Amino acid sequence: MPVRLLFSQDANDRVSALMVSMTLEEKIGQMTQADYGALKGRVEDVVTYSLGSVLWGGDTEIPDITARGWAATTADLQALSARTRLKIPLLLGVDAVHGHNNVNGAVLFPHNIGLGATRNAALVERVARVTADELTATGIPWDFAPCVAVARDERWGRTYESFGENPELVRELGVAYVKGMQGPRLTDAASALACVKHYVGDGGTTGGKDQGNTETDEETLRRIHLPGYVDAIAAGARSIMVSFNQWNGKKLHGHRYLLTDVLKGELGFKGFLVSDWAAIDQLPGSYKEQIAASINAGLDMVMIPNGPGTDKNYQQFITLLTELVKEGVVPQVRIDDAVRRILEAKDAMGLSDRMSRGQQALEMVGSPEHRAVARDAVRQSLVLLKNSQDLLPLSQNSGRVHLSGRGADNIGMQCGGWTIIWQGKTGDVVVGGTTIRRAVEQAVGSGTKVTFSEDGEGVAGADVAIVVVGEDPYAEMFGDRADLRLSAGDSAVIEKIHASGVPMVVV
Ligand code: GLC
Repeated sequence: MPVRLLFSQDANDRVSALMVSMTLEEKIGQMTQADYGALKGRVEDVVTYSLGSVLWGGDTEIPDITARGWAATTADLQALSARTRLKIPLLLGVDAVHGHNNVNGAVLFPHNIGLGATRNAALVERVARVTADELTATGIPWDFAPCVAVARDERWGRTYESFGENPELVRELGVAYVKGMQGPRLTDAASALACVKHYVGDGGTTGGKDQGNTETDEETLRRIHLPGYVDAIAAGARSIMVSFNQWNGKKLHGHRYLLTDVLKGELGFKGFLVSDWAAIDQLPGSYKEQIAASINAGLDMVMIPNGPGTDKNYQQFITLLTELVKEGVVPQVRIDDAVRRILEAKDAMGLSDRMSRGQQALEMVGSPEHRAVARDAVRQSLVLLKNSQDLLPLSQNSGRVHLSGRGADNIGMQCGGWTIIWQGKTGDVVVGGTTIRRAVEQAVGSGTKVTFSEDGEGVAGADVAIVVVGEDPYAEMFGDRADLRLSAGDSAVIEKIHASGVPMVVV
């Protein structure tokens, strides 16, 4: 059993008593988050360094990506933390940004831009609840979501991870997501810790450049990009991820005013700040200077993708931060504040008492009940732009429907990025699902013929054509686009169908 202090009454006492017994190395271990990929072949480092957290970054996979495989992997990791002196449990986290998207068999939802189109906070709360249920079934109680970016320039590659351009809508749906993810009680087995990201101004960079520079005055920054955090904190969010971007040329990861004075001081945020992926490495100076600048600015936990043998790794981080404290460059009170925040969040989740949720929870992963929520979300995310001559809704009993376009029979395009692999992939993906072509075949009456050609061949004579166009999957900076027009291939299919004179629906 983990160390539990019998006499203490509340979280603050429990954490204070625990901290009194911790060495400096154990405290700094709690501030260290290692990627699972860096631990391969050296997973004992969890014990050696008393690590506080492990994540699976976008492309960090495990051999068996079924729910059962994930549950076994996380259970093995947690068993390691029980071998540390103080038995403080690991906080395990992933990017479940449209369902538990690392798991083959999990239910996937529309990305946030689709959920934003629903404008339905109650639905978003249900989506988050299902996601938390599937996450915790696999032993992962921390989700790097919701992204409350306010996407102000569609050229930004992460626009689809935002609920939209409207601060009010982002605030409302961000709060709904936090409530769904953390549930009525954060200690419930099916509740997970939300991580509101990326603080602050990620969606407002000049030209929509990912990890770029948000050039704006403070009033605008507060009015457009801050509301999601203010309300998420009020809704009980206890972790926030810092953004890669700069504000007027200064990197957020070294921004003491925004991280400490505004977020922790003015807004009273009592949770902990986690960095983005190796983001402190982008600060000026040596690794030691980057560590000092980010921790002194108010960062509490550092996300480190690298293991021993590569530069700027979690072993170096622990060594250098220990030196910085001993040299007085990073005050002991800053370390104690960071560790307290992390331990209080772990305590608020009842992390020490969480056991494996077992077979019954695993069977709910990808269940029909969960998929029903996703179908509802897809339905409500549809946006009708135009309906000439009242072509829609289509009859289910026309003679022939012809499907065209690269996206008509392409699950990978329907799922987008952050699907099993970081960038996603076009074509078949392991998660399976129903393509638009298969869905139309299932929806039409027995007398209706459904034909398909990606390039539009064979459309002549059909009663109606459905053309499905769209982007190939991508994530983050790989999605930044200067030119937002449809691809030449997509335009060619639309032109071809248009020339045939067959009434056309473009999806
Ligand atoms: C990525 C993203 C962030 C994600 C983190 C961990 O670079 O910026 O959204 O949570 O790294 O995968």
